[in-house]
Amino acid sequence: MQFEILDLRHFSASSLRPVLDEESRLWSDRLRWDYRTSADLLLQYLDSRVLPGYVAVENGRISGYVFCVYEEHKAIIGDVFSLSSAAADVQGQLLRHLIELLRHSPGIDRIECQLLLHPHGLHAEIFREAGFKLFRRLFMELDLSHFEPSPSRPALPEGLALSTWRENDFHPAGYLIADAYSGHLDSFINDQYRSVGGSLRFLHNIVRFPGCGLFDPASSRTLTRKADGSLAGVLLCSRVRDDVGHVTQVCVGRDQRRLGLGRRLIEECAENLRGRGFRGLTLTVTEENANAVELYRHVGFVEKHSFDAMVWDRSWR
Ligand SMILES: CC(C)(COP(=O)(O)OP(=O)(O)OC[C@H]1O[C@@H](n2cnc3c(N)ncnc32)[C@H](O)[C@@H]1OP(=O)(O)O)[C@@H](O)C(=O)NCCC(=O)NCCS
Repeated sequence: MQFEILDLRHFSASSLRPVLDEESRLWSDRLRWDYRTSADLLLQYLDSRVLPGYVAVENGRISGYVFCVYEEHKAIIGDVFSLSSAAADVQGQLLRHLIELLRHSPGIDRIECQLLLHPHGLHAEIFREAGFKLFRRLFMELDLSHFEPSPSRPALPEGLALSTWRENDFHPAGYLIADAYSGHLDSFINDQYRSVGGSLRFLHNIVRFPGCGLFDPASSRTLTRKADGSLAGVLLCSRVRDDVGHVTQVCVGRDQRRLGLGRRLIEECAENLRGRGFRGLTLTVTEENANAVELYRHVGFVEKHSFDAMVWDRSWR
């Protein structure tokens, strides 16, 4: 298979459209996501010609692409995709080129990548050879037409109030996320979780920006400590298709765990969505986060797909 790898910034959005259309189909089949909003966002960035990345060109046509975004000293490889008959090879070459570029960029100290669409192990060797650490993540789904909430719900602990997400929960949620994930494996995979500032950036992407579906405040829940207004728990849900919700965040404060609150947040979300005619609720979880995986299984989520998260840090050398 003959193909050339060229700089993404030289190409217009329209030349990538056939690749993105095919990718959107796969997102829908494999993950039940409507990828069109994300694809449109990507096309806007492509037209501004600032997105670092590469395209594969076969017989004069673009057959694949890879791109990344920068966040201070970190690069996040956003996606890789190819519709070539040798897609895995083309994707592998695209990834090699981008990883090489980033590792030789003195301003970049860290690279993160989650290839949600691609099955676990597909590009593992390329990342391992380049010094990345890999973590298997699960994509799980709850069929809302068969969902039954727990028959008996324990009363909420004294001093906590359960509410629908409000805009003024934004800052308290940043504090809760940074605390809930301190020392947690997921903060090794996504370093935004390690600080309040990073957690607020994460929230910004989820709540105010259509980066991961469209935020759905009506099914998102908070647990507020009545005494000081701080949060003891949060669940954020986005709409990834007309009838499918996706949990982008669920966490409970350390002092309130194992009381059934995580389960309560998920069940509240699922009930809200079911009542509004949604058919499914999905989420992703790191396989090693065994408590969370166990909790999701108890609620009725089943594993539909698994993929890899990769991290590289210059300080490891
Ligand atoms: C995962 C998390 C939200 C669970 O919240 P929680 O309020 O402690 O969960 P619950 O009390 O509702 O637990 C429900 C079930 O989960 C399982 N579980 C939860 N914590 C557990 C633990 N520490 N050890 C073993 N099982 C545990 C139990 O099987 C429990 O089952 P039960 O219904 O038989 O009691 C919470 O631990 C947390 O915030 N962790 C850090 C952030 C995180 O990992 N979020 C998920 C990312 S995908």
